[in-house]
Amino acid sequence: MTMAVEEVAASLIGLRGRDYLSSADGSVSETTALLTLAAQLKSGDRQIDLGNRILGLIFTKASTRTRVSFQVAMARLGGQTIDLNPTVTQLGRGEPLRDTARVLSRYCDVLAIRTFAQQELVDYAHWASVPVINALTDLEHPCQALADFLTMQEEHGELPGQTLAYIGDGNNVAHSLMICGALLGVNICISCPEGFEPLSGVLEQARSLAQHDATIEVLTDPVQAVAGAQAVYTDVWASMGQEQEQMERESAFASFCVDQALMDHAAKDAIALHCLPAHRGEEITAEVIEGASSRIFDQAENRLHAQQALLAALMGGL
Ligand code: CP
Ligand code: NVA
Repeated sequence: MTMAVEEVAASLIGLRGRDYLSSADGSVSETTALLTLAAQLKSGDRQIDLGNRILGLIFTKASTRTRVSFQVAMARLGGQTIDLNPTVTQLGRGEPLRDTARVLSRYCDVLAIRTFAQQELVDYAHWASVPVINALTDLEHPCQALADFLTMQEEHGELPGQTLAYIGDGNNVAHSLMICGALLGVNICISCPEGFEPLSGVLEQARSLAQHDATIEVLTDPVQAVAGAQAVYTDVWASMGQEQEQMERESAFASFCVDQALMDHAAKDAIALHCLPAHRGEEITAEVIEGASSRIFDQAENRLHAQQALLAALMGGL
């Protein structure tokens, strides 16, 4: 957190021109430096002007936070954003991805893509000649995880040794928390109903990346998972694309609501986190969202600072 400007720049040099498709696409030092830069941008200690660079957004799923925070981040870096909504571009009429990616690379300096399959993102990254950022897929949400750990760092300081308990679906958000948390030395304890665990491959990957002896665990009991945790995190039970499973999931997840009683089992100064949008009364109560331990709106703000840092690093503006 006390890294000098030159030290941050040196740590991030390797990200220049690279893609950020997964939380694993940043090394330990790069991920740490991204959080430092994000904090410096937030406090006003750093200002970065990239010149008139252009970000292209290709979102095939709905978004409020990711879309707007990327647009504002780009504006603060002196650049502009073009919203390439697939329904109004030739993408929606079946123009091949390989052509779209190559053409957009001639106009844009960076692309942020929100879609279903991770493979589609990988294909974009293959054909594009500019950096591609994962703005959420079914597999991961790496920009979210950067903001989440920035929020934990702001609240509780140095991240290694802290514990984040994630209650609910072993989904894209959980996957990126596991990988990013592992890199940052944060213990991650996931609690989910049987059949809704994170992918075993991601669990193995996170464990193999873990720093500072961080543990990555998957349990069923939410009370056990939150014991001693500095942050208690949850997300919707049915993600975008799973709407038809909502009813079935409501019964499977009934005992996985983050309420005040569950928060009381966490560390005394634990914070409540949620990536939003939230379903009050399902995965989290209104009392917790609005309560004293909630840092959910700081977390949402931190999307802006974390993505501003990421854009600057990928475009080599440090
Ligand atoms: N948390 C998050 O990604 O929100 P949006 O879906 O609104 O972008
Ligand atoms: N898991 C959720 C996150 C939304 C930001 C989804 O994919 O819909």
